[in-house]
Amino acid sequence: MEKLRQFHKEATYVRENLINLSSNFLQMLLDLSGKKILVTGIANNRSIAWGIAQQLHSAGAELGITYLPDEKGRFETKVRELTAPLNPSLFLPLNVQDNSQIKEVFNAISDKWGNLDGLVHCLAFAGKEELIGNYSDTSVEGFSRALEISAYSLAPLCKYAKPLFTEGAGVVTLTYLGAERAIPNYNVMGVAKAALEASVRYLSAELGNDKQVRVNAISAGPIRTLASSAIGGILEMIHNVEEKSPLRRTVTQVEVGNTAAFLLSDLSSGISGQTIYVDAGYCINGM
Ligand SMILES: NC(=O)c1ccc[n+]([C@@H]2O[C@H](COP(=O)([O-])OP(=O)(O)OC[C@H]3O[C@@H](n4cnc5c(N)ncnc54)[C@H](O)[C@@H]3O)[C@@H](O)[C@H]2O)c1
Repeated sequence: MEKLRQFHKEATYVRENLINLSSNFLQMLLDLSGKKILVTGIANNRSIAWGIAQQLHSAGAELGITYLPDEKGRFETKVRELTAPLNPSLFLPLNVQDNSQIKEVFNAISDKWGNLDGLVHCLAFAGKEELIGNYSDTSVEGFSRALEISAYSLAPLCKYAKPLFTEGAGVVTLTYLGAERAIPNYNVMGVAKAALEASVRYLSAELGNDKQVRVNAISAGPIRTLASSAIGGILEMIHNVEEKSPLRRTVTQVEVGNTAAFLLSDLSSGISGQTIYVDAGYCINGM
């Protein structure tokens, strides 16, 4: 049994490294050079936004990075150090609950870049107490906060980005299967993700006409991150996917990053308003 466990561990290690290695060839397949893209939502090296930022950088994009400011400046220091190798030309504080910070971010983009080719919205929040137990126990404050940060925030970001968007620019946000299925403990975040996916369709309809701007969501399989660790039973969710998904595993941040790079590239010019699943196929299962 121990040998089998060790073999599984080693096989996982080799597979993850193969997936990561493939990122080194990304620019040969997909070229984002000359594109200026804002990435929100990096908290640490487990963040999905970090996987996305790395892949956008590998494909040649110039990056702007935001971090969530806190009193002690801990996120700022951590995210600055982490992202330094990607040479971001903009590094800005952004709490989406503060409209003046949203405006500041786009003022800075306007001053520094003059325009914007891509926007990655990769952030969410719900109180830990809302992510366990019964959905009917959700407090009104918890509901409002989760919906404001995790779903509503995409609208003002798009509003201020709109005049700066170049022809064919792209917006990518992150969602989860809990938007359309009842997943234990996901609760209010599922409702927020349903609102987010609907927002993607409305924003897609709004932004497409003028400059062919495309808005899409990636529905990622469960990955261990700071945000997901707040969800009751996240390890069980991951094991379930490893057992039952067609690929018999969950996905990596880098795989999500590759799809984001595709959605922000001209290769996906005909795709808008969609939810694209990067979940090792799990969502097709009936049982
Ligand atoms: N990890 C998963 O299993 C999974 C699966 C599907 C979708 N997602 C989604 O991916 C996105 C990124 O999450 P993650 O799992 O990488 O976790 P994470 O904790 O690394 O990222 C969440 C980010 O949200 C930011 N954030 C929270 N409140 C904010 C606010 N008020 N203003 C600005 N930023 C704020 C945090 O600073 C953090 O960087 C989220 O939308 C999440 O719901 C995650």
